[in-house]
Amino acid sequence: MNKSIILAFESSCDDTSVAIMDTDYHVLVNLVSTQPEHLAFGGVLPELASRLHLKNILLLTQNALDRAGLKLSDINAIAVSVNPGLIGSLLVGLSFAKSLAWSLSLPLITVNHMLAHIFANFIDHHEISTPFLALVVSGGHTEMVHFKSLTEFEVIGKTLDDASGESFDKAAKLLGLGFPGGPIIDKLAVTGNPEFLKFPRALPPKDNFNFSYSGLKTSIRTWLANQEASDIQANLPNIAASVQQAIIDPLINKSVIWAKQHNIPNILIAGGVAANSQLRKQLSEKAAKAGIKVFYPSLALCMDNAAMVASAAIPKYLAGIHAPLTSNAFSLKGTKEL
Ligand code: KG4
Ligand code: ZN
Repeated sequence: MNKSIILAFESSCDDTSVAIMDTDYHVLVNLVSTQPEHLAFGGVLPELASRLHLKNILLLTQNALDRAGLKLSDINAIAVSVNPGLIGSLLVGLSFAKSLAWSLSLPLITVNHMLAHIFANFIDHHEISTPFLALVVSGGHTEMVHFKSLTEFEVIGKTLDDASGESFDKAAKLLGLGFPGGPIIDKLAVTGNPEFLKFPRALPPKDNFNFSYSGLKTSIRTWLANQEASDIQANLPNIAASVQQAIIDPLINKSVIWAKQHNIPNILIAGGVAANSQLRKQLSEKAAKAGIKVFYPSLALCMDNAAMVASAAIPKYLAGIHAPLTSNAFSLKGTKEL
């Protein structure tokens, strides 16, 4: 079969993104427009996010086509993420994708945002094969998902409270470091000692593959309340390294133990926290000792982007699985469908 061209949209949170990709997983263009307008509020304002998506999406699509040197008539399918996410933001992308699919008589392919994060791995690593364990770690999700094939998967464990990215963000907020917290803590931790403070690791990995981070948040808050502000400032790299280690330890231990127990040769990391330098390094080292290979996307592809949406749409496109123009967006959490 000749390769086809997919035009994809991502607008589930505060990044508007448009990508054009062929069905051999080659990215022709992947444009992301971020929304710095939220920074002043210390978090994402949903209504503002929807309005900015609406403002950006047409121009970004025109730019993407120009940069790829293509016309709308060169496109073979339209892909869009429809869940989970902010409902207003998702609806902007979905409505835009639907109107293009309808006016151009092209198939519409709807994609789960978390699965798209997992499929970002295939853009950099065409060689990945199933079975694999996906460790999905983002601002809203922490899940271990076992893929028996690209279309057959089950969730092995998930967080019972805060997500791993959310824990980075909340720790950074308690430390007065800004938003989003993950990249700031990652950078600060480079010169810090991860053994400086021993924060709790909930749910020991022996037979429990769920995660819990609420105890960590409480113990950071309690510890900080008993310190002098000057001591906190002087020890910021050590505190950051200790917090980071407490968040990534359960992710590393549980995924390697489960993969080993079930003879799974590959672990894929996905989502914003997959950008964490120590998670990438320590998981790769620990898994290698057990003969397991770890894959992660390039830094840009860890963040929300439309190339990952196109990548997740490829198996559906090749299998002829199209979505009706009556498709809706929904904000439900989790890796519910492919
Ligand atoms: O996947 P993503 O872009 O958005 C969601 O779908 O949630 O993930 C955003 C999350 C934020 O919580 C952010 O703090 C975290 O990813 N993050 C990181 C790093 N870069 C982004 N966490 C740890 N280390 C990083 N380098
Ligand atoms: Zn995401």
